[in-house]
Amino acid sequence: MNVPFRKYWLLQKKYMAPYKRQIVMLTILLLSNIFLRIINPRIIKFYIDSVSTETGTTLLYQAAILFLTIALAQQVLVVFSVFISQNLAWGSTNSLRSDLFRHSMDLDMTFHNKHNPGNMIEHIDGDVNNLSNFFSKFTLDLLTNVLLIIGVIISLMIESISLGLLFLIYVFDALIFVYLFRDIAVKHWRKARDKSTELFGFIEESMGGLEDLRAQGANKNVMRKFHHHSKEEYDATYTSFLYTTFFIFSIWAIIALSYCLVFLAGIPPFLYGKMSMGTLVMVYMYAGLIIWPIMNILSQVQDLQLADASIERINELFQTEKKLEDSGNEVMEEKPIQIEFKDVSFEYSENNPVIKNLSFDLEPNKILGLIGPTGSGKTTIARLIFRLYDYQNGEITLNGIGIKKFSLNEIRNNVAMVTQKVELFNASVRENITFFDKKVPDEKIIEVLYNVGLKNWFDKLPEGLDTKIQSNEGLSAGEAQLLAFVRVFLKEPKFVIMDEASSRLDPATERLIEKAVDRLIIGRTVIIIAHRLATLERADNILILENGEGVEYGERVKLENDSNSRFYELLQTGMEDML
Ligand SMILES: Nc1ncnc2c1ncn2[C@@H]1O[C@H](COP(=O)(O)OP(=O)(O)OP(=O)(O)O)[C@@H](O)[C@H]1O
Ligand SMILES: [Mg+2]
Repeated sequence: MNVPFRKYWLLQKKYMAPYKRQIVMLTILLLSNIFLRIINPRIIKFYIDSVSTETGTTLLYQAAILFLTIALAQQVLVVFSVFISQNLAWGSTNSLRSDLFRHSMDLDMTFHNKHNPGNMIEHIDGDVNNLSNFFSKFTLDLLTNVLLIIGVIISLMIESISLGLLFLIYVFDALIFVYLFRDIAVKHWRKARDKSTELFGFIEESMGGLEDLRAQGANKNVMRKFHHHSKEEYDATYTSFLYTTFFIFSIWAIIALSYCLVFLAGIPPFLYGKMSMGTLVMVYMYAGLIIWPIMNILSQVQDLQLADASIERINELFQTEKKLEDSGNEVMEEKPIQIEFKDVSFEYSENNPVIKNLSFDLEPNKILGLIGPTGSGKTTIARLIFRLYDYQNGEITLNGIGIKKFSLNEIRNNVAMVTQKVELFNASVRENITFFDKKVPDEKIIEVLYNVGLKNWFDKLPEGLDTKIQSNEGLSAGEAQLLAFVRVFLKEPKFVIMDEASSRLDPATERLIEKAVDRLIIGRTVIIIAHRLATLERADNILILENGEGVEYGERVKLENDSNSRFYELLQTGMEDML
């Protein structure tokens, strides 16, 4: 049986370690419960046998009261142990979930490109929830159930060795039966889980791309695909449910059979006076009692197999390491940055070069206008400087130091990027601007908001900085970009990369952006990825990119006046032709 005990044990050990006290309490509760469950049938036996041998009534009353008290105590113990084990489960799974989230947030873009958010939700929440059911009680349950079986058999052996042996055989038979059939539902459950992951991924992607879907009138097709995914999930879940029901039904059949057997086998010894009525009833009670631990042990093992996929995926996620080295400790000097690309080549996937032997050099405080057709690699250049990816060949230096020699933090604290599509959180305006950093004072935020020209927009907000932004709704592309500018201004970076939105903006917003850019470039080295000629007017240098190659690089003024240059040609024909 390929049960991932070891993997599970390692994970459990790590996340249960802070809960030693509760675990000890739980163990005591469970052990007491076992003791009571084994002792109770003996009290019944005593009661019945006493009735038939006519001992005094006091003793009978005492036995009856003891039986009731124990039964009640058992229930109380169960309530307390459920309470403690739930607490354990929540606590430990919460820490597991946050560790997974932190780790995923830290992973490279290469990883995240391959895993869509819906997928990640299934990892971070779904898989963890899968484990939570038995995270707190698996080992304890296994232990107590084994102890319960052993206890019952010992109790019977005290009565008669042959009875004990008979039960031992019964336990083995039942174990073998359940073991043989245990897998019958597992693979169906696994399939159901995979289907549900697919469904989640699809829902997430559809919601994310809603605007595009509508624009294409593709809603109907998406619904069709959705029905397809949900039907697959339904079918898989339904099938696994059927198998599980069959399995449970068989268990009840075994219990009924064992009762019959106890009574049938009990007739001769009872008739010949070898066994008392009380013993017979006790054996009957034990027969019912012992099947549950057997069931429990196997269903735990089964659960664990089910969770195997989750454990596997959780471990895999934890073992996925950042590909970007982050061992550098150079510190950025307090001055505008000079940047140089030396023969840099980069590919996202093998044999698919996106940047090819690119070289250029930008002095501190200068502005580079980067242009090129769509897909030529402009955004990629920005990502390389920001170290979202590492290039394969050549070198990028900041102030003459290779960028891999800085820590990722150092780079990201000093370089800011305004992306083409600004991502907004479903959170307040303040949180969207500060990225949940509580230390930035409101006055500062508002000052910058006014400075970038968002005064009109801001003054209309019903609750000021506390107004909730419904992610990407309610803000135009231009306003979103301006908000991104606010983020950058607050960071006060030495180097700014601005990836202009390729969508058209209304003239008023465009003017605001122009003004914001004017402020942004003061005292900083800047790369502007331009989609409009107007933006290029401030550039000191121009780099034209085509298919990942730098096809022209030089001072803007010189290129403008050189009738053989591509830039000159571009100015004549207009950007639209090229882009
Ligand atoms: N994450 C990625 N994984 C694989 N390939 C990518 C990835 N991002 C971009 N590419 C590819 O790299 C090439 C350059 O893309 P990039 O986004 O840098 O172009 P761009 O010049 O910014 O285009 P645009 O003007 O449309 O913004 C394209 O062929 C694109 O398909
Ligand atoms: Mg781009």
